[in-house]
Amino acid sequence: MSRPLIHILATGGTIAGVSHTDHPAGRYTAGVRPVAPLLAAVPGLDDLAELSADQILSLDSKDMRPADWQSMLSACRRALTSPAVDGVVILHGTDTLEETAWFLHLTLPAGKPVVLTGAMRPADHPEADGPANILDAVRLATLPEARDKGVLITLNGRIHGARSLRKYHASQLDAFSSTQYWNLARADGRFAAHDLAPLPRVDILAGYAGAPACLVDACINSGARGLVLALAGQGSVPESWRPALARARDKGIPVIRASRCSGHIPRNGNADDDGEGYLTAGDLPPLKARIALMLALAAGMEQPEIQALLPTL
Ligand code: SIN
Repeated sequence: MSRPLIHILATGGTIAGVSHTDHPAGRYTAGVRPVAPLLAAVPGLDDLAELSADQILSLDSKDMRPADWQSMLSACRRALTSPAVDGVVILHGTDTLEETAWFLHLTLPAGKPVVLTGAMRPADHPEADGPANILDAVRLATLPEARDKGVLITLNGRIHGARSLRKYHASQLDAFSSTQYWNLARADGRFAAHDLAPLPRVDILAGYAGAPACLVDACINSGARGLVLALAGQGSVPESWRPALARARDKGIPVIRASRCSGHIPRNGNADDDGEGYLTAGDLPPLKARIALMLALAAGMEQPEIQALLPTL
């Protein structure tokens, strides 16, 4: 019987990490081991699927740039348009996996499964978690039930959707959660038909006690085309930031109120902020609101259109 063909895109991460054996704290370098030996170390993989693989990046994902998301998008599109390929698996560092997954979720068409995975322990760890995660990811990518679900993520025996995924622990094997929403059944691909290069710069500013307003001007004066504010509570704007934010808005720069917490940011929740021209993120966390804004600006959307879009993502 013919096996499904799954195309693997390797980008680095701890899953491809190699330890410094002489280091007492068990340090390692991410993104070292190439994809072929990573796949060869997974027992039973060949029984599940026929595999092809490309090493498209070899990065620690903290160094991932928006241009790298676009390389991944192009590589996924190439693979998915081949009639022979049944699904794509991306091996990725866990640190910024939720950003890449969300970007791809918004830019890939619905259809064949695209599954991201990574690992919390390097490839040469005696109890490495990478092999089991790769096996799970390939298995998931072969399943008809994984079609049209948007980008999926599997780690540590769990399956997550791109919208709800959040890395919440720095070192535990069970580092990811998607406790708030389980909307696996919704493919998005909202920007799949757009030519998105280049992506404009959007910065995230954290609101915290005493955060100086000069940060706002620094972002705008150095070329940010949009701002996402990761604010306290329901997205409450610090009074000391208002003049600088008004200067940003006067230049036509969209400013999104998002929250450092989870939960929904209502329009004009605590104050008449949005009457002043702020956009609100709804329940999108700042990292994901930022990517949505980058894509919306790249697609030429105006602010009212962007505000209408955000709660629907
Ligand atoms: C990385 O994100 O590339 C390093 C950390 C990890 O993969 O867990």
